[in-house]
Amino acid sequence: MLDNSVLEQEPRDKEVSSAYSLIVKQVGALIEDEHDLIANLANVSAVLFNNLDDVNWAGFYLFKEGELVLGPFQGQAACIRIPMNKGVCGTAAFKKEAVLVDNVHEFSGHIACDAASNSEIVIPIIVEQKLIGVLDIDSPRYSRFNLDDLNALSRIVKLIEENITQGKPLL
Ligand code: SME
Repeated sequence: MLDNSVLEQEPRDKEVSSAYSLIVKQVGALIEDEHDLIANLANVSAVLFNNLDDVNWAGFYLFKEGELVLGPFQGQAACIRIPMNKGVCGTAAFKKEAVLVDNVHEFSGHIACDAASNSEIVIPIIVEQKLIGVLDIDSPRYSRFNLDDLNALSRIVKLIEENITQGKPLL
């Protein structure tokens, strides 16, 4: 896991690297005129899964009745329910903070959905201080995710949060 002090900086408005700028633009264009959350998350999963290198799972868990429930994703079938504060997703959701894990096998409580996963990034989706869910991306490559990924993926999460705010009511 990255030293948490680097995660304390607000990444959501940081410059996005050129490799990511097209992906961020594509996500913005796909969701700007649509406010169906499931449809938008399905498209964002597809864009991320098909455009990021070395990614074997990209998708969302949604916060429902006190736990995380599997949402739109691309990749192998995954575990459906994750308790708060369990695994990488539950930890990010509970803390309402991004979590980057260089080696998931060293993360206590990691939930292995796909044996091919070796590193992972999870970013919470929060609207008006309320947890909506998490973006979760897995990679077979150790230490796949760095601060560039965190900044760009946080920008994408921010677009989703703004879309939710503009498109209320939810779901
Ligand atoms: N590894 C996650 C579970 C979800 S899968 O990666 C799709 C976790 O530990 O929370």
